[in-house]
Amino acid sequence: MYVCNCNGIRERDVRAAIDDGAQRPADIFRHQGCQPQCAKCVCDMKAMIACQAQAMKLAAE
Ligand code: FES
Repeated sequence: MYVCNCNGIRERDVRAAIDDGAQRPADIFRHQGCQPQCAKCVCDMKAMIACQAQAMKLAAE
């Protein structure tokens, strides 16, 4: 499933970027070597980053 239709960024690409240390959507675009276009995907990216951070926090407990 695509998260960013403008740049063809899939969920797995976002997860890979987060696993590589992305902490904000700009990091994800940089990881993918592209720039935001319409920015409609930014909220979804932020949600995925927050979800991953929460999962890591719970895993550390
Ligand atoms: S959907 Fe990601 S920049 Fe447009």
